[in-house]
Amino acid sequence: MSTETPPSEPTASVRSSPVRAAIAARRSTKRFSDLPPSRADIEALLQAAVCAPDHGQLAPWRFTVLQGEARGVFADALAEALRRRMPEVADEAVAREREKAFRSPVLIVVSAHAEPHPKVPAVEQWVAVGAAIQNLWLAAVEMGLGLAWKTGNPAYDPVVKEALGVPEGDAVIGFLHVGTPLATAPPRTPDAASRTRWL
Ligand SMILES: Cc1cc2nc3c(=O)[nH]c(=O)nc-3n(C[C@H](O)[C@H](O)[C@H](O)COP(=O)(O)O)c2cc1C
Repeated sequence: MSTETPPSEPTASVRSSPVRAAIAARRSTKRFSDLPPSRADIEALLQAAVCAPDHGQLAPWRFTVLQGEARGVFADALAEALRRRMPEVADEAVAREREKAFRSPVLIVVSAHAEPHPKVPAVEQWVAVGAAIQNLWLAAVEMGLGLAWKTGNPAYDPVVKEALGVPEGDAVIGFLHVGTPLATAPPRTPDAASRTRWL
């Protein structure tokens, strides 16, 4: 007889683990207070990020931290990129686009630098950066910080990348808004079973 615990009955120690609690509690933050996280907090988040699985230990992640006035660089780039994509765009829409840069006190631009490698294709280097973002996000939950992961057209726009100093060949994986949440949505209960086959 198997002594393994069936997958449908996790042990109590697994159910109550702090990691699983943070995973379950993680939600996107919509509104942030103006209070900026400390530099030590941000460094702790980045340190959690770089502990992600990393095939070949290539450290493909790059981080650009924008705080306070520096967010204006992103705001200007968002506005210019929108005007170039939509030359007829209304000024109000441009103003709303600029506001996105200021929705949190800190913005961490996470990009991926994929090296040509004989055993680690670019896709593996990109997903390592995704894993790094998830590490960072779970650490934020544990520290009581909120986060929102954004991409959209700006992530792929050369104007935005250049303004942020992201090399043309690197990929923006996420604009991470970070700060103290003003509200946190309740946990979701997505279903694994409908996406799983047991053979
Ligand atoms: C690669 C990636 C890109 C994303 N881009 C956006 C985005 O542009 N705008 C947005 O609102 N959310 C974005 N998200 C966040 C998801 O929309 C969000 O996690 C999802 O709606 C589930 O909500 P939750 O985080 O509260 O569970 C992105 C997530 C990933 C993984």
